[in-house]
Amino acid sequence: MAAPISQNIVWHEGVSQEQREELTGQRGVTIWFTGLSASGKSTLACALELELLQRKKRAFRLDGDNVRFGLNKDLGFSPKDREENIRRVGEVAKLVASSCTATLTAFISPYLADRALARKIHEESKIPFLEVFVDAPLEEVEKRDPKGLYAKARAGIIKEFTGITAPYEAPERPELHIKTAETSIEQGVAVIVKYLEDNKFI
Ligand code: PPS
Repeated sequence: MAAPISQNIVWHEGVSQEQREELTGQRGVTIWFTGLSASGKSTLACALELELLQRKKRAFRLDGDNVRFGLNKDLGFSPKDREENIRRVGEVAKLVASSCTATLTAFISPYLADRALARKIHEESKIPFLEVFVDAPLEEVEKRDPKGLYAKARAGIIKEFTGITAPYEAPERPELHIKTAETSIEQGVAVIVKYLEDNKFI
């Protein structure tokens, strides 16, 4: 990772992650949803957040559209801006997960290299990172088109739209692969919860 440009800064050690997890009784983990617009990332992440909270687990969701209203309001959709979007979200997710919270991120995150960086940011802090490929064919998401964005992209009104005029690089080895055209939201949530339980993340 690139060194910070600031000089004269010193890392401050405090409560260790092990202590935090022992004292709170919950492990920190980031569950990184990636997929095309309208593939079901936010829907799945919302449903999982609710399920975990109902089980009295700490859970928190970071969502692409929402984060672009605040923290990342200065970023657009060029490859460089998407890279910075995902880098910042990777850092924020790591911090939230470090508070022993199941942290759910729902971002298209179309580039393999950007997702690899988000994973590396977590690995360097020993925070588990699970990639969930929310997979739906382009024909299907174009049919869904809940925000009318695919129609606008086809009409040339939106530039650099993922799947139409900008690439989506599918994960090569995601921890979980959910095909939302064949799986209900409840089934998808159940698959993720089982994975979290089996691997002692919750
Ligand atoms: S990225 O690629 O990860 O930086 O994108 P993300 O931060 O997840 O933001 C995706 C949401 O922005 C809206 N939108 C676009 N998406 C893709 N390409 C272009 N050009 C674009 N313009 C606006 C869209 O509502 C996406 O939300 P989702 O929830 O994925 O449909």
